[in-house]
Amino acid sequence: MRLLGFMAMKTLIAFYSRRGENYVSGDIKVLKKGNTECVAEMIKEQLADADVFQIETVQTYSDSYMTCIEEAKAELHAGERPVLKADCDPSAYDTIILGYPNWWGHVPMCVLTWLEAHDFAGKTIIPFCTHEGSGMGSTEKDIRTACLLANLKPGTAIHGTNAPRAQKSVEAIVALAK
Ligand SMILES: Cc1cc2nc3c(=O)[nH]c(=O)nc-3n(C[C@H](O)[C@H](O)[C@H](O)COP(=O)(O)O)c2cc1C
Repeated sequence: MRLLGFMAMKTLIAFYSRRGENYVSGDIKVLKKGNTECVAEMIKEQLADADVFQIETVQTYSDSYMTCIEEAKAELHAGERPVLKADCDPSAYDTIILGYPNWWGHVPMCVLTWLEAHDFAGKTIIPFCTHEGSGMGSTEKDIRTACLLANLKPGTAIHGTNAPRAQKSVEAIVALAK
């Protein structure tokens, strides 16, 4: 007789987030912790068994908000794929909760560096995006293009200013992962 083993679902919370000067409801403020990082931590509190991977670039962006938006715009237009400090192999995970800020209506290019380096076929991707008014923008399209055969769930957009109070959105994201 063949015994069927029980395979536990494994979830990875992968995110990119930038600390430093940012645009917060009309003002430039210094964020000690990025908005997306804040939401990722709230998700981790609900999903204790999930692993966490923070996407970080070797070359960091300017601390100045105004300079950073120009750097990001140039990277987007050049279609760059910034080099990452570390990699994470997603093959061991069934579900990937993917968080990032909306940058010029798109995912930051470093998120594509990571997505394009791996095979997400058959994996469930649950995107969430923090923003200052543009919502998800074209980010779900970006993810779909990079991960053609993934099971892409509808994204959750969270206004960056509200990140510390995004409990309801966090619960919705966690429910999709269960
Ligand atoms: C380079 C850059 C580009 C941005 N572009 C947009 C945008 O097009 N639309 C928008 O709503 N917010 C935009 N924002 C605001 C961020 O999406 C928002 O502040 C987000 O919560 C930042 O997340 P983080 O702190 O995790 O990096 C931009 C911010 C930066 C730094």
